[in-house]
Amino acid sequence: MRLPALKTLALLLPAVAAVAAQDASSSMSASSASMTGSSTASSASGSSSLTSTATASASSSGTATSGGAASSSSVNPLTEKPPAAVPSATTTPSAMIPSGPLPPSQELCTSPIYCPGPLLQAVQLAGIFEDSKTFVDKATSKPESEVLDNFNKLGGGNTSNITYEEIVQFVDDNFVAEGVELVPADLGEEFVQDPEFLQGVEDEVVRDWLKQVHSYWELLARTTNSSSPSGVQCDGCVSSFIPFNESRVFVVPGGRFRELYYWDTFFVIEGLITSQLQSVVKAILENFGDLIDRLGFIPNGNRVYYENRSQPPFFTLMIDKYIEAYNDTSVLQRFLPLLEKEMEFWRNNRTIEFTSPFTNNTHNITHYKVDTSAPRPESYLEDYKTVEDASESGLELNDTQKAQLYSDLASGAESGSDYSGARWSKRPTINLTDTIPAQRFLNTAQQLPVDLNAILFACEQKLSAFYKVSGNGTQSNMTRANYWAQQAQARKQAVLDVFWDPSRKFFYDFNVTLGDRAPYYTPAGFFPLWAQILPQEFVNETISLDQRRQNLQGVFSGLRYIIDRFNGTIPASLVTTGQQWDFANAWPPHTYIALEALRNLPDSLSAGPQLPAENGTFALIPMTNGTNQLGQTQDSLPIQPIEYQPGSMINETQAGATDPNNPEQELNPIMNVGNSTTGESWRDELVRELANRYVASALCSWRATGGKLNTTDPNFQAVPDDVLTANGLNASTAIGNMFEKFNASDINAAGGGGEYEVQVGFGWTNGVAIWLGGQLGANLTRPECPPVVAQNTTSSE
Ligand SMILES: *[C@@H]1O[C@H](CO)[C@@H](O)[C@H](O)[C@H]1NC(C)=O
Ligand SMILES: *[C@@H]1O[C@H](CO)[C@@H](O)[C@H](O)[C@H]1NC(C)=O
Ligand SMILES: *[C@@H]1O[C@H](CO)[C@@H](O)[C@H](O)[C@H]1NC(C)=O
Ligand SMILES: *[C@@H]1O[C@H](CO)[C@@H](O)[C@H](O)[C@H]1NC(C)=O
Ligand SMILES: *[C@@H]1O[C@H](CO)[C@@H](O)[C@H](O)[C@H]1NC(C)=O
Ligand SMILES: *[C@@H]1O[C@H](CO)[C@@H](O)[C@H](O)[C@H]1NC(C)=O
Ligand SMILES: *[C@@H]1O[C@H](CO)[C@@H](O)[C@H](O)[C@H]1NC(C)=O
Ligand SMILES: *[C@@H]1O[C@H](CO)[C@@H](O)[C@H](O)[C@H]1NC(C)=O
Ligand SMILES: *[C@@H]1O[C@H](CO)[C@@H](O)[C@H](O)[C@H]1NC(C)=O
Ligand SMILES: *[C@@H]1O[C@H](CO)[C@@H](O)[C@H](O)[C@H]1NC(C)=O
Ligand SMILES: *[C@@H]1O[C@H](CO)[C@@H](O)[C@H](O)[C@H]1NC(C)=O
Ligand SMILES: *[C@@H]1O[C@H](CO)[C@@H](O)[C@H](O)[C@H]1NC(C)=O
Repeated sequence: MRLPALKTLALLLPAVAAVAAQDASSSMSASSASMTGSSTASSASGSSSLTSTATASASSSGTATSGGAASSSSVNPLTEKPPAAVPSATTTPSAMIPSGPLPPSQELCTSPIYCPGPLLQAVQLAGIFEDSKTFVDKATSKPESEVLDNFNKLGGGNTSNITYEEIVQFVDDNFVAEGVELVPADLGEEFVQDPEFLQGVEDEVVRDWLKQVHSYWELLARTTNSSSPSGVQCDGCVSSFIPFNESRVFVVPGGRFRELYYWDTFFVIEGLITSQLQSVVKAILENFGDLIDRLGFIPNGNRVYYENRSQPPFFTLMIDKYIEAYNDTSVLQRFLPLLEKEMEFWRNNRTIEFTSPFTNNTHNITHYKVDTSAPRPESYLEDYKTVEDASESGLELNDTQKAQLYSDLASGAESGSDYSGARWSKRPTINLTDTIPAQRFLNTAQQLPVDLNAILFACEQKLSAFYKVSGNGTQSNMTRANYWAQQAQARKQAVLDVFWDPSRKFFYDFNVTLGDRAPYYTPAGFFPLWAQILPQEFVNETISLDQRRQNLQGVFSGLRYIIDRFNGTIPASLVTTGQQWDFANAWPPHTYIALEALRNLPDSLSAGPQLPAENGTFALIPMTNGTNQLGQTQDSLPIQPIEYQPGSMINETQAGATDPNNPEQELNPIMNVGNSTTGESWRDELVRELANRYVASALCSWRATGGKLNTTDPNFQAVPDDVLTANGLNASTAIGNMFEKFNASDINAAGGGGEYEVQVGFGWTNGVAIWLGGQLGANLTRPECPPVVAQNTTSSE
């Protein structure tokens, strides 16, 4: 079936400013929607969020964080509610909402409201919210049974005969604003304005910026209303929020991500530790512990609609960071049994025996594979269109194949890289402006993920170490310590056998359909190095140290070239697909993992200077049998444009070239890589450069969206109001956006593409920035930000 163009009615629910303590039901009915929409149902395109490919620097998404100065007395811009419904278009109120086949009900998601079923399908296919997640984050304003009764009366009792007017009225009458179960949390006296790490940040501009980023924890901290842990406001009312055993603080990513997220939080915790917020870290760990208690694993986020899937499993490593920072092993008493449970979930539900075609050895390999045959409730409309309209991309799917595709969609989300065309789609470049066609060809479960197996190796190693600890409520258990050490050893063998490519000198996902490693270079390949899995050719002492050092530089030669070629930080892949985990998007966790991969290398192997590169650093990339590590030639790689000169680009053939008469001298020094020091090793050079690129991307895009610095440096004066206004920001309230993702070739811009608008706030972006300040504060220099140009006019700053 084919969905009609999706139109929405104007003005559904009114904006709700105060989060807590408000009588939601009365405020809803007081301003019930006026139905003003009357445009024709056949005009123009469907829901804009489906096809959005914004690569814009400062789009209207800026409004989510820009609202009030960062002073403590002002409104919290992140908790101020956006209008509850921002219709993407209008339609005739009396028109019927779309209907179509109902996917099967789900064992792992059973709410009759928030999980796949007639109610969810009717509301979501109507497309009355710009973002499908809005509806499933609304608590009911009436007892669940009453809501269901009210739904069953719609359309005269016939679900295929419901009008837009009816469904809007239904949502209005039966639900409150999204996210009301959460309230801002007070961080109390533990929060200090000037945490110690700032003293180690030498540059005044970077220091002032990081001080402001540190203050954003106060904007992102949440808790539940203590009188109602699930946030509902009447007896029998329900919400999708999975409550914790107690009301404790946690940190949200920001924007539409208004609950606790799993893998995001590892990077948040690195920042919180640097920010001296121990009790917040501890509370977050306890919250995750509650989720394992309840579900046996950690869901993607604490909403019932996430109960069938997890995310990259960093919980063991969060506990390790906590213990390392505070030397408090008392937490192991509660958490060890829970970590066992979580690991059991990955072993039992996500692990297959796989025989390597390279050695014929059989290994346990873990992959992302969600047990579902229905759309993700929070992306229902998008997934439904992807699957039910697959014939638009030439696919005729039977029910088994539809179920498989729904599962692959959810598995892509479980991977955290939703979606990477390069990693998960069989046809990544089928359509660069519409994300849906490539997603119709997802093959997630058949792509064995190198990053997941490296993360689990790290967890197994840490578990082994935890079992060796005695005292403070825990007793060592050498049997268990040895068991986990063996698991880690087996995992390491698997990673080296299946994912390490000895000729391309890098780690790659394994494509089961292809029967070989995938061709695409992605930052997932850094995870084994971060976890300190090093192939024999680097550690076997029968090979000379010099040779091993050179071999190891080969592993990082792709990264070396990427830094030389592009202006920003490391992109999610080197293919442009329009998906958000591909070029040119660059994500904070990837920079963190690549940096730690470098920093975790043994010192003996990472000493010595960078190899000279007379012909540019592309020539350093290992190449065998016509393929190289990046899987591309210099010409096939995406270009690095020079701004405002359409068609222009930097001469990539010279990227990283050194003077033949003075091999340590670069011919065209690249920007925003900090200041080199004499005798710096090749590893320290890459660390410094990558760290400074992260700062450049985060700081410049923040400044471009209204971030203001306390400095006399003429290059860092505030962007003029008229430029901000022309770029769609509210100049009087803009405080600078910390974006969830960056653009690898434009450091002033945010990332783009994907299924939803670029989000700001933003937990892991801030976490990695603050962590960098703590770890490498002396090496961070103020960036050179390109001029901020007004997009709607020709004037520039
Ligand atoms: C559909 O609803 C309209 C009014 O809303 C009603 O007149 C009509 O009989 C209904 N049709 C069916 C098949 O239920
Ligand atoms: C994990 O597998 C068990 C059966 O072994 C099943 O009962 C459970 O629902 C699965 N959990 C998830 C989240 O898939
Ligand atoms: C950490 O705690 C252990 C006991 O659990 C103690 O022996 C050790 O000295 C502590 N280390 C630090 C750095 O405080
Ligand atoms: C024992 O745990 C407490 C926290 O419960 C911590 O403050 C203390 O430092 C720990 N002592 C040792 C020796 O690890
Ligand atoms: C793996 O086993 C198959 C079938 O026995 C054999 O043909 C192949 O050569 C073996 N491969 C390796 C790498 O040993
Ligand atoms: C895979 O794991 C299971 C359960 O731990 C174990 O019984 C089996 O031997 C493992 N397979 C391999 C090839 O290691
Ligand atoms: C669905 O299609 C696939 C591929 O053509 C086929 O193998 C499978 O048997 C079909 N399943 C059903 C239930 O028709
Ligand atoms: C995997 O290999 C198959 C077979 O060559 C190919 O069609 C597909 O594009 C590859 N990638 C993925 C993600 O499946
Ligand atoms: C990509 O999708 C858009 C929007 O659906 C469509 O207009 C365009 O023709 C498609 N491009 C290709 C190459 O199929
Ligand atoms: C160690 O752990 C194993 C497995 O959980 C358990 O059977 C055993 O009793 C434990 N040993 C000690 C000394 O606690
Ligand atoms: C180290 O290299 C030597 C020489 O190539 C080889 O014989 C030996 O097996 C290697 N050691 C390991 C542990 O692979
Ligand atoms: C990239 O950086 C170069 C300087 O190295 C600069 O000239 C160019 O304008 C930048 N491009 C963009 C899109 O920011």
